Amino acid sequence: SPLHNLLTALPKCEHHVHLEGTLSPELLFELAAKNNIALPPVSSQASREVGADAVDPAFASPGALYARYAEFTSLDDFLHYYYIGFRVLLTASDFEALTYAYLRRAATGLSGPASAPRSSNVRHTEVFFDPQGHTPRGIPPSTIITGFHAAAARAERDFGITAQLIPCLLRHLPVSSAEETFTSLIDAGFFASGALAGLGLCSTELDRPPALYAPIFSRAAALGIRRTAHAGEEGPPGYVSAAVRELGVQRVDHGVRAAEEEGVMRGLREAGVLLTVCPLSNVALRGVHEVREVPVRVFLERGVKFSLNSDDPAYFGGYVQENYCAVEEAFGLSVGEWRTIARNAVEGSWCGEERKGVIL
Ligand code: HPA
Ligand code: ZN
Repeated sequence: SPLHNLLTALPKCEHHVHLEGTLSPELLFELAAKNNIALPPVSSQASREVGADAVDPAFASPGALYARYAEFTSLDDFLHYYYIGFRVLLTASDFEALTYAYLRRAATGLSGPASAPRSSNVRHTEVFFDPQGHTPRGIPPSTIITGFHAAAARAERDFGITAQLIPCLLRHLPVSSAEETFTSLIDAGFFASGALAGLGLCSTELDRPPALYAPIFSRAAALGIRRTAHAGEEGPPGYVSAAVRELGVQRVDHGVRAAEEEGVMRGLREAGVLLTVCPLSNVALRGVHEVREVPVRVFLERGVKFSLNSDDPAYFGGYVQENYCAVEEAFGLSVGEWRTIARNAVEGSWCGEERKGVIL
């Protein structure tokens, strides 16, 4: 596309990427070998379909895993593999290596020694992680937070990218587990110190309405903690308005099903909520058949703000740059529309006004 150079040069912000979703099959196998974790892993703690792992041929090789990832049928089908990947991550240095590889790729487009240099220019990123996926294996949030910030400091020096960390509470687990997790993060002082930049909510969506988490989110609001939640990925448009009304979120992750209801769209516009849209993720998990079915034009025309993000780039076949390019190929947007998208992404970031000014 003639806009390719513009898309590359635009200073980008990412707000929807899961740290564990940046674990490539190659790094998964490497860490499994280093940490002496059997593949297919046999521990049942983090996996949700116990028993299926032991005979899963997808763990024969990185190539076999990539092939399986190309055939996800739903959010929960993906989540099964995503949580298995958690089990190879043990030490702060594992999380540091994972974080640094992602930040390098986001900032420069470089993925590894063998790959051709490609640009990307993500200047600021806000990264999710799932504490409840690690604590049952004996890995406390402090291990992940330490590794993340060590990598973030190095990546800022090396590439000029800034990064923040956001814990997501997991909806497939009991609400009481989310409550305990949130309380322990507050008590450890991670929000007050800025080690954590806000609160998120993810995992299985169907039959887990946002209202279940309203007490936790109102506690967060009272403490001045910024809030976001996955909604309207598989779940109905009403879950998007419920996230805004009942959880008081500043952003909604995905939110694409909001386009099905004008009233929900109006609510997003009036609240000034930013949707963190992930086009290649929506295709990979069969929310849409193709990128051109993602309601990008509807959002632009109705004045609903959104950013473009990778979600779980190691699983869905693309980082931020590939998501921008896929949207351009599907919609052929104007230079002005691209500038609006990139500016809304900077303005919807949680990095502080001074940093936003530098990026813009
Ligand atoms: N949706 C819900 N939970 C998730 C996702 C997602 O796209 N990625 C990682 N956890
Ligand atoms: Zn997500």
